[in-house]
Amino acid sequence: MNKLFINPHIKKGKINKEIQGHFSEHLGRCIYEGIYVGENSDIPNTNGMRNDVVNALKEMKVPVLRWPGGCFADEYHWMDGIGPKENRKKMINTHWGGVVEDNSFGTHEYFELCRQLGCKTYVNGNVGSGTVQEMSEWVEYMTFEGVSPMADLRKKNGHEEPWTVDYFGVGNENWGCGGNMTPEYYGNLYRRYQTYVRTYDWKKPIQKICCGANVDDYNWTDGVMSTTHRAPEFLHGFMDGLSLHYYTHPEGWEIKGSATDFDDKVWYKTLSKTMYIEKLIERHGAIMDKYDKEHKIGMIIDEWGTWFTCEPGTNPGFLYQQNTMRDALVAGINLNIFNKHCDRVKMANIAQMVNVLQAVILTEGDKMILTPTYHVFNMYKCHQDAQLLDSNLDEVEIIGVEDEFKVPALNESVSLGEDGKIHITINNLSIEKDYEVEAIFTETDIKEVVGTVLTNEMHAHNTFDDPNVVHTESFDGYKVVDNKIVFTIPACSVLHLEVTV
Ligand code: AHR
Repeated sequence: MNKLFINPHIKKGKINKEIQGHFSEHLGRCIYEGIYVGENSDIPNTNGMRNDVVNALKEMKVPVLRWPGGCFADEYHWMDGIGPKENRKKMINTHWGGVVEDNSFGTHEYFELCRQLGCKTYVNGNVGSGTVQEMSEWVEYMTFEGVSPMADLRKKNGHEEPWTVDYFGVGNENWGCGGNMTPEYYGNLYRRYQTYVRTYDWKKPIQKICCGANVDDYNWTDGVMSTTHRAPEFLHGFMDGLSLHYYTHPEGWEIKGSATDFDDKVWYKTLSKTMYIEKLIERHGAIMDKYDKEHKIGMIIDEWGTWFTCEPGTNPGFLYQQNTMRDALVAGINLNIFNKHCDRVKMANIAQMVNVLQAVILTEGDKMILTPTYHVFNMYKCHQDAQLLDSNLDEVEIIGVEDEFKVPALNESVSLGEDGKIHITINNLSIEKDYEVEAIFTETDIKEVVGTVLTNEMHAHNTFDDPNVVHTESFDGYKVVDNKIVFTIPACSVLHLEVTV
């Protein structure tokens, strides 16, 4: 019997709701078609945003949305995307498919989307091909209330009030598509650019995010931290976050592999490679600790998720992929790991929100489907701004088909939600085996349990013809005995137990 020990009396920190954040880039059909169809579209919309997509995202409680990239951010010149749409500059989206970007979705549209979603904003600035002046003026345009050239321009373009920029990214992947820089060179640029990311309203300080490493590039983390490092009293307002990017490519960057056609071996390889993020958090975190013992700088995992070969017949530059139960497990594992490291991980943004990589929503014309990943986010929303509770799984079987890619069969996190209830989210990574679990609560009486499960065979996914193959169901396979809940978690599933004590 697997034992899950939960001590509701030990709170281990706040799980920032931003850990369940999203990312939307001008890439493929993420923004255009997926989210924004324009005011004149036949698809029902509000100020150009698809009503079906916005409503589904609101239900899932998107806490924060990163935009406009990605690699696109370091080629984006924000002034091309303001003013009358017919006058906006058309450009080539060189990174993503070489298609024409007509800039009809720009700064005003982004803030309108966030207003409709009720989420925080995370704008990513251009260091790679942009100037300090351009970045500084964008911040002034977005956030300055008084009289100034940029605030006046915003007002002329129809928005009297400033917006709130909660997070501002100073460049993206500057070790690669954002300028191929060395850590020291970027570190010095960060020092300079961030100086002009002014907070005009001290009631709403802009949290500045420095470009961090890709995967296990510890040299980048150390080089950037040592170059930007200042005495701890200066850290606040200088650097609030350092990013980390990690994608799960089961077959490696070159091959990637199909999103829907895979065998048992690739299943376990994918999940094992997903679990590797815990090592990355610990190792990059240890380097950050050298410069920031008090954890004032958050680790911002602003790109994560599966990256497979795109769907046959689609533009390879659009990164459109299907989403199966395997993606559901990847999401559940990542979110549990982020919860458990909430002392350092302050935000995470799955890539990407609609129609790109591990999307929560796919669209085709006026049709929309919710992916298995969507359902996991919807189940996990109970953890947003909750307190992480002490929890440990004991005697869990190690499973898999190859030594290198073995994984523990179960994976969990537990929190005390803002609703006063205890929330257990637990994943069964086995393709074939159900497990009996005894959840033992330290000195706590259990009054009521409500269960929800997402389970199916490993390849199961939703399609436009059959949109409800993978869906959540209520779960009653448990018994409460004193301070214990005994339940059987089905193979290949994500389970949420809401416990009233
Ligand atoms: O999410 C797709 C791309 O992956 C982003 O544009 C880039 O930052 C990363 O390499």
